[in-house]
Amino acid sequence: MTASLFTPLTLRETELPNRVMLSPMCQYSAEDGLATDWHLVHLGSRAVGGAGVVMTEATAVSPEGRISPGDLGIWSDDHADALRDIAAFVRERGSVPAIQLAHAGRKASKSRPWEGSAPISEDDGGWETLAPSPEPYPYDGGETAATREMSADDVDQFVEDFRAAAERALDAGFEIAEVHAAHGYLLHEFLSPVTNRREDDYGGSFENRTRLVREVTAAVREVWPDDKPVFVRISATDWLDDRESWDLDQSARLAPLLAEAGADLIDVSAGGIHPDQEVPEAGPGYQVPYAERVNEATDAAVGAVGGITEAEQADQIVRNGSADVAVVGREFLRNPYFGLEAAHELGEDVEWPAQYRRGTFD
Ligand SMILES: Cc1cc2nc3c(=O)[nH]c(=O)nc-3n(C[C@H](O)[C@H](O)[C@H](O)COP(=O)(O)O)c2cc1C
Repeated sequence: MTASLFTPLTLRETELPNRVMLSPMCQYSAEDGLATDWHLVHLGSRAVGGAGVVMTEATAVSPEGRISPGDLGIWSDDHADALRDIAAFVRERGSVPAIQLAHAGRKASKSRPWEGSAPISEDDGGWETLAPSPEPYPYDGGETAATREMSADDVDQFVEDFRAAAERALDAGFEIAEVHAAHGYLLHEFLSPVTNRREDDYGGSFENRTRLVREVTAAVREVWPDDKPVFVRISATDWLDDRESWDLDQSARLAPLLAEAGADLIDVSAGGIHPDQEVPEAGPGYQVPYAERVNEATDAAVGAVGGITEAEQADQIVRNGSADVAVVGREFLRNPYFGLEAAHELGEDVEWPAQYRRGTFD
């Protein structure tokens, strides 16, 4: 039987009630990394609105891994406690609570978008950023904080931070952990020759550049229960074909290795490593072909993201086998009820929250 958007998907022993996932989206509304009412309302609304998986924004595994001072974090038990009610609420609504674990690498220490997304220097309350190599991200103007090349000890600590963050996330009630290895943040910086100029076991060859993401995935998998899935989000390409960079061929080669390390779904995004990137027109489903290619390369499930805004379009992505899950970002910002409305449009019988039944279409 051909799966559709509303065919449940079982990954390990965790059932996703449908294949609509809320894409991770930073809200810049945390206080010292702690979740606030905003996160409960934002994530809770999308669970009420019928997303099968509700993924938190990038949640930093250590304080210096935050993009901005407003990012979520999970580097202490207090941080896990602040997320606990959110995970429970999402679960009570029948959605699967998921958390994206992240470290922003050299793209950390920036102001919130509505404050300009400008780099914050250490003098202005910013912090030293970590990266595979010491070159800071080439921002247009604005003084950046210093970027430190990670030592062998930093690399070990980084893996341990991910492991500890996953343990806390599990304790907080999340059922899916996603490793953020996309968008030019730390793990992507190791993958890409644009940012990784190391000469140790973590730089140079494909095997060396992919070592850290494989180690982190394995560390998360070690502490994540056997019945629960681990996702990894990658940038399928740097969109920098004019130079030695990370590309779709390497992503296709990496996908089965991530599956071997314990990933159950590869969430396929793109770009973010360097401002010179040449982004193709971000039209409907602009990154779906990347998901298709990764899907051909691995037995793991695959998520497609980017320009998915219509029920029919999301349904087709699943029906024609491009991907197993349709990951929806900005459309969910416009319409928190995208999941329920998609079910209605596709003629699927999905239970509405009891509180909202008088608002159903029939
Ligand atoms: C406000 C905003 C915040 C985002 N934050 C994250 C994030 O924390 N982690 C991540 O992997 N992607 C992040 N993204 C990228 C989205 O998850 C998604 O991949 C992208 O917006 C393309 O999908 P869309 O066309 O459905 O929006 C963010 C995007 C937006 C618009």
